[in-house]
Amino acid sequence: MGEAKFLERLDKEAQLRERRGHGQGKGIFRWEDSFDLYGCIKFCLKVSGLWARGLRNYLDIRVESNEVFLERLAPEFDGFRILQLTDLHADLHPDFAAAVRSAVENVPCDLIVVTGDFRTCTYGDHTGATEAAIEILQGLSAPCYAILGNHDFLIKVPPLEAAGVKFLLNESATIRRGEAALHLTGIDDPNFYKTHDFEHAMRDLPDDGACRVLFSHAPQTHKIAADLGFDLQLSGHTHGGQICLPGGRVVVHDGTAERHLLSGPWREGNMQGYTSRGTGASGLPIRLNCPAEVTVHTLRSE
Ligand SMILES: [Fe+2]
Repeated sequence: MGEAKFLERLDKEAQLRERRGHGQGKGIFRWEDSFDLYGCIKFCLKVSGLWARGLRNYLDIRVESNEVFLERLAPEFDGFRILQLTDLHADLHPDFAAAVRSAVENVPCDLIVVTGDFRTCTYGDHTGATEAAIEILQGLSAPCYAILGNHDFLIKVPPLEAAGVKFLLNESATIRRGEAALHLTGIDDPNFYKTHDFEHAMRDLPDDGACRVLFSHAPQTHKIAADLGFDLQLSGHTHGGQICLPGGRVVVHDGTAERHLLSGPWREGNMQGYTSRGTGASGLPIRLNCPAEVTVHTLRSE
């Protein structure tokens, strides 16, 4: 990921460990430093009778389809399917891994990507989340790429890579079909760690005019990614609001992305993008008016 960014991330991880996670949130999420935000929400949901429904929704993971027409996609890649999982926070609930496995087991795809946030907490032991993620991914046969989110420490990379996941930490990879290429670039978390480095990530990409797909944990890189000539950006992080008003209206978000980037497909200049509502949940195993999702992006050549 580049030595400077690597050291910067390790330093921020150490600070976070010392502060026991405090100081990462923004807006309302900063208040959780001074009182038990999730305890209050849990109490309100239990009193109002919405807890059981929210938990059912959390484990009822939808398979969403997103068809994207990309001008620079070579005909050899027409129909190429990327299965996106994101924001697993895989150690939040013991039934979660089985719920994801049952959602994805019959979903055909050519490539899998996990766009960050494997762990529930922003600090502390990662092993539960890593084991649950491996349980989810081990039955899937397509090649699997991943990036880190703001809930992840670098220490989880080696065990996940040993299980077959290829991390793109400010790196790129190319998939080839005959002479045609599809370039994949993954950047580190641009939200809290801010250790993303496009220059480093793209340093070996050939200027061959082939289609470029960016994996960025948070959608807030949309403008720079469009300027750099990416064709498609896939993100998560927002959880689509997770607990929303009827109709999916987001009540609270961390303010790092404009509302049109919080979930679903969007466009920035010539680049198309998609923000997943997330496969898991943060803080509480609850979703209201905001279904959990895995997403099949089918790439189409125009
Ligand atoms: Fe997340």
